[in-house]
Amino acid sequence: MIKVAFYDTKAYDKPSFEAYGGQNGIEFRFLETKLNTDTAALAEGCGAVCVFVNDDVNAEVIEKLYKSGVRLIALRSAGYNNVDVKAAFGKIHVVHVPAYSPYAVAEHAAALLLTSVRRIHKAYNRTREFNFSLNGLTGFDLHGKTVGVIGAGKIGRIFIDICRGFGMRVLAFDRHPADDGIEYVSLDDLLRQSDVISLHCPLTDETRHLIDGAAIAKMKKGVVVVNTSRGALIDAEALLEGIKERKIGAACLDVYEEEADVFFEDRSGHIMDDELLSRLLSMPNVIVTSHQAFLTQDALDNIAETTVNNILSYYKNAGLCDNELCYRCGNIERCKSDRKQRCF
Ligand code: NAI
Repeated sequence: MIKVAFYDTKAYDKPSFEAYGGQNGIEFRFLETKLNTDTAALAEGCGAVCVFVNDDVNAEVIEKLYKSGVRLIALRSAGYNNVDVKAAFGKIHVVHVPAYSPYAVAEHAAALLLTSVRRIHKAYNRTREFNFSLNGLTGFDLHGKTVGVIGAGKIGRIFIDICRGFGMRVLAFDRHPADDGIEYVSLDDLLRQSDVISLHCPLTDETRHLIDGAAIAKMKKGVVVVNTSRGALIDAEALLEGIKERKIGAACLDVYEEEADVFFEDRSGHIMDDELLSRLLSMPNVIVTSHQAFLTQDALDNIAETTVNNILSYYKNAGLCDNELCYRCGNIERCKSDRKQRCF
């Protein structure tokens, strides 16, 4: 039996993982706590850990896991900015789920955008209280507007297709623009021309605070900013300033820079310590969801199936796994395509 410590377990994780794990000889030790230096010891006796986006898998944690016999970190997410892949190299293999449902995330971005521009969140609350007034609910047509997509990868492209369905003009900025019929422009041009800006690039040293005060200064007045990628792509203080100055017309946030201590939990009975988040939530033109974009049943099933297959590949396929993240060649994802043997 393969034993896997499963950190940051939520009720919606268990059914799919129990089902796929049980069928494949994997016993998950479901832990509610997140993985950090204090909780790494809970993986004692397990050969692998399964982690999510807010588990902090830093070099110290990796060292502790390694000493306790863990040889595999199985991310049940696509993003891996929370894992020190460099520190893991040579000690613990890291696998992730590169795609489980890009549709789930792209559709959530579209849902947030439509909710915001048509004030659905406000209308919903009003009509439940028999308030049928339309005052203050004026939106705008997406048709004919320009959307700027930063990061035209799997999710970004699906979002682009959705926006094209609305009759929007689409501009994209990507580090590796493809010859794919999408109009790629410089980041500056995208910022200056877009009525809606949606972020779909990964969080890296290069993209941290990609949207800062200087970027916001270049944007059109009234721009709608959508972020379903990673919180730290946006400098949240600069975003708040942009909203206060009426430069940013609306913000739709599924992620937030300091979300790790807040998101995914019921904090309704607590005093909110994060004043920046409180202030953002108090704005009538800000919609926040709690890193929910991935959360469809289709995605959960795909995540569990791929994670279980990743774990099985490691244990049963001489360690060779297509979804391994490897630091060796310096390009963590590129070497996946022509990998013939395990990374170390
Ligand atoms: P992907 O790897 O298919 O696409 C990312 C794109 O960003 C690529 O085209 C890449 O060339 C581009 N890119 C990389 N660095 C860039 C830079 N410095 N400037 C501009 N473009 C750059 O990834 P995918 O599957 O589309 O996911 C995108 C992101 O969405 C993930 O990194 C993750 O952070 C986020 N995500 C959020 C979820 C949620 O529940 N909110 C769920 C899943 C992913």
